[in-house]
Amino acid sequence: MEPVMHMESLLQQFKGGSVSALPTPSIVADLDALDANLAKMDNFFAGTARRLRPHFKSHKCVTLARRQMSYPSTTGITCAKLSEAEQLVAGGIKDVLIANQVIGRDKTRRIAEMNRNALVRVAVDSREGISQLSDAALELGVKIGLLVEVDIGMNRGGVKPGQPVVELAEIIRDTGGVRFDGLQSYEGHIVTLPDYEERKKRVVEDMRPLFETRALLEQKGFSVMISSGGTGTYDITGKMEGIDELQCGSYALMDTAYKTIRPEFLNARYILATVISKRGDVISTDVGLKGMGAEYGTPVAVGYPDAENMYVAEEHSVFKNMEAAIGDKIRILPPHGCTTNNFYPRMWITRNDIVADLWAIEGRGCLE
Ligand SMILES: Cc1ncc(COP(=O)(O)O)c(C=O)c1O
Repeated sequence: MEPVMHMESLLQQFKGGSVSALPTPSIVADLDALDANLAKMDNFFAGTARRLRPHFKSHKCVTLARRQMSYPSTTGITCAKLSEAEQLVAGGIKDVLIANQVIGRDKTRRIAEMNRNALVRVAVDSREGISQLSDAALELGVKIGLLVEVDIGMNRGGVKPGQPVVELAEIIRDTGGVRFDGLQSYEGHIVTLPDYEERKKRVVEDMRPLFETRALLEQKGFSVMISSGGTGTYDITGKMEGIDELQCGSYALMDTAYKTIRPEFLNARYILATVISKRGDVISTDVGLKGMGAEYGTPVAVGYPDAENMYVAEEHSVFKNMEAAIGDKIRILPPHGCTTNNFYPRMWITRNDIVADLWAIEGRGCLE
């Protein structure tokens, strides 16, 4: 993480000035657009019993996570890594779910330590994981809440619905340092299906075994909560009987890939880049794969409707049909927002294109 002093002096240097004075490449978020996205999602949950647990992976910024927590529908924060959870807890977030497996005794001990002052729950899908977490908890005199991860088709983690879940729930119940809190799932294999009706049909089908598993557990006396869902499914999964929490992440800042299926949320973040080379109407900018997540989707140059991205190289993104001059600062919407934020130590915050703030991206590079 960047030294606070450096952040402060950078902010002092640019605060109150035009966004176009910032060095490039930088990531910039428009505060009004961001707040509109947060309010829209919050509004979806208003008057329902379901809660939002926004995913930290999408922005990795503790200040933004605290802003999300200030909405009434938000119950806590989701993250993928132990080191992300540590940043969140250090930043004052008291309810965190690591929606992923954490394996390794050095790591499970760190989870137990966090549980001294906060509620940090973890997904599990193996006896080994349960036993390592339990040992660490017993050593430190805490209890760790666990969610059994159920694989509903993504094949990334989790056990199959039904009996395999019941078996792990029973092991957790009979193991000293841990507590069974419910089920974790993620419909990642269908969350971005382009056709909404098809997406809805698949989500309904693929989530059914999850709800049957919940019923099975409840028959056996377990009390169960289910955490699942993403930006592409919030209004499908988020209306299902049996869902308690949604883990949407991308809705906050968005990206070009998600924008194609979720037009109701605004692209609140862009990369400010400089045109550094020009060959006729083909231009190259100073941001490439080392500053922009482009595993899928296409970067978009804002304000150049005819521009077409030709390719993204390590340090360049190249557009054709683009009448821009060398030295112009342009705005590029990244194809994949989550990996984009992971490249930057800080995100500039603007209002009406005037620099208003600078937020650290504490979760940058949090791989452990
Ligand atoms: C476990 C989990 N939950 C939720 C999400 C939701 O993210 P998004 O809102 O970006 O679809 C993800 C994204 O990868 C995830 O891995």
